[in-house]
Amino acid sequence: MECSWKTVLLLVCASLGVQYTAIRSLRGSIAEPCGGADRCQFRRPKEYRWRPLCDGRPPSEGSFSSLSSSRKHILLFATTRSGSSFTGQLFNQHPSIFYVFEPLYHVQQVFTNSSSRLRRGLDPRALLGAYRDLLLNMYTCDLHFLENYIRPEPQDHLTGSFFRRASSSALCSPPVCLENGGAPGEPDEAWCPRRCRTLNLTLASQACLARGHVAIKTVRIPEVQDLRTLSEDPRLHLRIVHLVRDPRGILASRMGAFADQFRAWKIWNATGRQPRYVDLAQITRTCQDLADSAQTGLRQPPWLRGKYLLVRYEDLALHPEEKAEEIYRFVGLEMDEKVRAWILQNTKRSASPTEGNYKYSTTRDSRATAESWRLRLAYDIVGVVQTLCNRTLSLLGYKPVHSLADLRNLSYSLVEPRSFLPLL
Ligand SMILES: *[C@@H]1O[C@H](CO)[C@@H](O)[C@H](O)[C@H]1NC(C)=O
Ligand SMILES: *[C@@H]1O[C@H](CO)[C@@H](O)[C@H](O)[C@H]1NC(C)=O
Ligand SMILES: *[C@@H]1O[C@H](CO)[C@@H](O)[C@H](O)[C@H]1NC(C)=O
Ligand SMILES: *[C@@H]1O[C@H](CO)[C@@H](O)[C@H](O)[C@H]1NC(C)=O
Ligand SMILES: *[C@@H]1O[C@H](CO)[C@@H](O)[C@H](O)[C@H]1NC(C)=O
Repeated sequence: MECSWKTVLLLVCASLGVQYTAIRSLRGSIAEPCGGADRCQFRRPKEYRWRPLCDGRPPSEGSFSSLSSSRKHILLFATTRSGSSFTGQLFNQHPSIFYVFEPLYHVQQVFTNSSSRLRRGLDPRALLGAYRDLLLNMYTCDLHFLENYIRPEPQDHLTGSFFRRASSSALCSPPVCLENGGAPGEPDEAWCPRRCRTLNLTLASQACLARGHVAIKTVRIPEVQDLRTLSEDPRLHLRIVHLVRDPRGILASRMGAFADQFRAWKIWNATGRQPRYVDLAQITRTCQDLADSAQTGLRQPPWLRGKYLLVRYEDLALHPEEKAEEIYRFVGLEMDEKVRAWILQNTKRSASPTEGNYKYSTTRDSRATAESWRLRLAYDIVGVVQTLCNRTLSLLGYKPVHSLADLRNLSYSLVEPRSFLPLL
């Protein structure tokens, strides 16, 4: 293919190429001896042969239907700094769920690293085809598919560069990691990167199959409409948990987490004067995507009916156990005791002496975290975001404030009580 003369074309070609191989492998699977079984439908795109898990497995009539009806494929669909690490833990703590924290990171890395022009001007929508292929392969536990994107390239299916491995409990426990964990209550992030050896992706794929259900968190898909092909895929039992948060809180949190990128905003926040070069486009885009997705999801089009649940982070922070039960009812699984225990441990300020040692976003008073933006954001900024995100606030039930006193008065709730549960 002659597509190297322009970077944009290169990108399109690469993305089409990935989609093409995926389509080929899907077509091929129908005729192959082990096609039909949910777990071994996909060929590895680089080497045209069936992956080992498939070998010697006789096709069985019943396996497709039974597997596809019992295995859940959960997507935690979120945006950066919307409380998704916290929410992801509700899945990560479940012993039958294989949870992965943002595998799409690797796709984006490969494309954004390949040229500085792309790095500056990359539209996330250009990568959607590759994103969807990766999700499909992750849901069927083919983690080898990731090897196309991990850098440096894995050797013998071994990698030390799996993004946020420690956020996945399955990848920090036997048989994937032979260590038995840290001190009681110590989060995986604190010990797993040091003590677990290089990740063996074959073992990881097997652990995925053994866990029964797969949950993936992503913050890189712009709109729920972009998930339509996955949602309609008959091999998946997709359940989309759309996590939303007050955009004023998202912005404050991004300012704290990405200080470089938000330097102008921080100057504005500190001085009360809006620099001319403040980038209003990002938060505007975030708000549009939030509103467009929520509108689509709540309208319940046929391709999404029963597969979409809108969850406000603020509700989860205020009533974690109740909301977690609601989420588990929606995905069709029992909430495990381990999940309940994790919630109890992590949503209240505890007197545990170890807690102060770990500064992870999930081990804090969830309610205080969700609302802390009200004390950290200049009133001016709040006003501008309220104007930019006017439709989003009203659709999701977040009240605008009209005075500094109301903004800082935490007894005055900005979250309107709402139920987003579909009327069945
Ligand atoms: C990005 O490129 C640099 C050098 O061009 C390389 O050292 C680095 O490993 C690359 N990173 C990824 C994730 O591809
Ligand atoms: C990775 O795990 C698989 C499955 O247990 C094993 O067969 C393989 O030898 C391991 N790879 C390496 C390089 O240790
Ligand atoms: C905004 O400025 C105030 C002090 O004026 C500071 O306390 C707060 O942390 C700043 N917020 C952010 C998000 O940087
Ligand atoms: C958006 O702002 C306008 C005024 O600027 C207001 O009249 C309108 O009610 C707002 N729309 C929504 C959906 O809140
Ligand atoms: C804070 O809000 C509460 C509830 O709306 C209200 O009763 C109270 O008077 C407010 N306090 C101040 C200082 O404005």
